[in-house]
Amino acid sequence: MTSASKLTPVLSANWDEKDSFTIEGYKRNGGYKAVAKALAMSPDDVIQTIKDSGLRGRGGAGFPTGSKWGFIPQGDNKEHYLVVNADESEPGTCKDMPLLLANPHVLIEGIIIGSYAIRANHAFIYLRGEVVHVFRRVQQAIEDAYKAGLLGKNIGGKGFDLELTLHAGAGAYICGEETALLDSLEGFRGQPRLRPPFPAIAGLYAKPTVVNNVESIASVPAIINNGIEWFQAMGTEKSKGFTLYSLSGHVNNPGQFEAPLGITLRELLELAGGVRTGHKLKFWTPGGSSTPMFTDQHLDIPLDYEGVSAAGSMLGTKALQIFDETTCVVRAALRWTEFYKHESCGKCTPCREGTWWLVQMLHDLEDGKGTEADLTKLLDLCDNIAGRSFCALADGAVAPIMSSLKYFRDEYLEHQRNGGCPFDPVASTIFKTVGA
Ligand SMILES: Cc1cc2nc3c(=O)[nH]c(=O)nc-3n(C[C@H](O)[C@H](O)[C@H](O)COP(=O)(O)O)c2cc1C
Ligand code: SF4
Repeated sequence: MTSASKLTPVLSANWDEKDSFTIEGYKRNGGYKAVAKALAMSPDDVIQTIKDSGLRGRGGAGFPTGSKWGFIPQGDNKEHYLVVNADESEPGTCKDMPLLLANPHVLIEGIIIGSYAIRANHAFIYLRGEVVHVFRRVQQAIEDAYKAGLLGKNIGGKGFDLELTLHAGAGAYICGEETALLDSLEGFRGQPRLRPPFPAIAGLYAKPTVVNNVESIASVPAIINNGIEWFQAMGTEKSKGFTLYSLSGHVNNPGQFEAPLGITLRELLELAGGVRTGHKLKFWTPGGSSTPMFTDQHLDIPLDYEGVSAAGSMLGTKALQIFDETTCVVRAALRWTEFYKHESCGKCTPCREGTWWLVQMLHDLEDGKGTEADLTKLLDLCDNIAGRSFCALADGAVAPIMSSLKYFRDEYLEHQRNGGCPFDPVASTIFKTVGA
């Protein structure tokens, strides 16, 4: 088997066509056929199809998409909403933006099908505001879909109405957390809500709401078109289908690699031309900066939900950030922690205060001013943040520190012995290639 034959391009199949983002380009490649098929089914059958396919949310937690849709109470005479989470702000995560840029219509098609299934007549896309070019592209695609009668009243003559609103976020990572997103969408300061009630019962405007990631919803048309068996033929026992893996950092050909769940980093690195020439792998994140890091011992772990979790991390957003031996792990952990400190919404004390203290301690350790006892204190601080804060941002904030200490404790101490960072900042390209 050649390494290229391990790829399963579905969402990314036509990204190299110059008009892949237009409605004409999308339709030429079979786009919007799934809508007709879904509207001929009952909403419950659409939900059952997505449940049976085994599709799991691609936004990080891997929750089964069909089950989430099934939680929306039916016949309650309330408005229902579908909200697409396109906030994508985690360091390393970079799959939804390229997908929206190359093919916004696959998301719109998935939104029509998902809204029909959960009986919603209004859907929203909450898009990271800084990516203005993506905003414009999605806006144009929505306009074109309205003109083509795919949005608005009586879609496809089937009596189904759907309005779609595109909303630009204001650049806060916390607004990717689904309940903070809903507050922000309602016009409030984006901070996580207390749960229960869960969004399926009281979400946007206190109405039953499904929040799904861009890639989750964009995967729906292909499942409706090709069927459950086709989807289940890809992936592993509990992690079905294809997905976008994003490789960034010290690799020769960084980018998106669409492959079945369960592929390994060794295989992905082969596809990406290997680690930067002349260098070797030191550490990597399996799913963005909030997932505990791995090392070169973990090259053959199946990158599916179960495989990564059994090895002590999380699949997250499948954002594989690759770091070679020129990278100081303490410096990398510091840079990520500075991000979490900056993005902590301030609602709860362990996260607001704790991330501030983590940054101070890591600065000292990086400058060679820390002691071995400080490492114990650092871990103790992490222990008082993770699981004791209001939302998962705080758990993500300690992940790089705890995992780097697990694998590279001696490198922390080497800073003290050396009286400063032992790494040559010129040789290390972390600051040039990785937006940590
Ligand atoms: C701090 C934080 C940031 C998040 N950012 C995103 C994001 O940008 N996009 C996303 O889809 N999910 C994000 N999530 C996860 C969402 O809360 C939610 O689980 C997800 O949108 C559900 O979609 P899915 O079931 O399709 O995966 C974030 C969670 C946390 C705690
Ligand atoms: S854990 Fe952090 S980001 Fe989450 S609510 Fe508390 S302060 Fe805000």
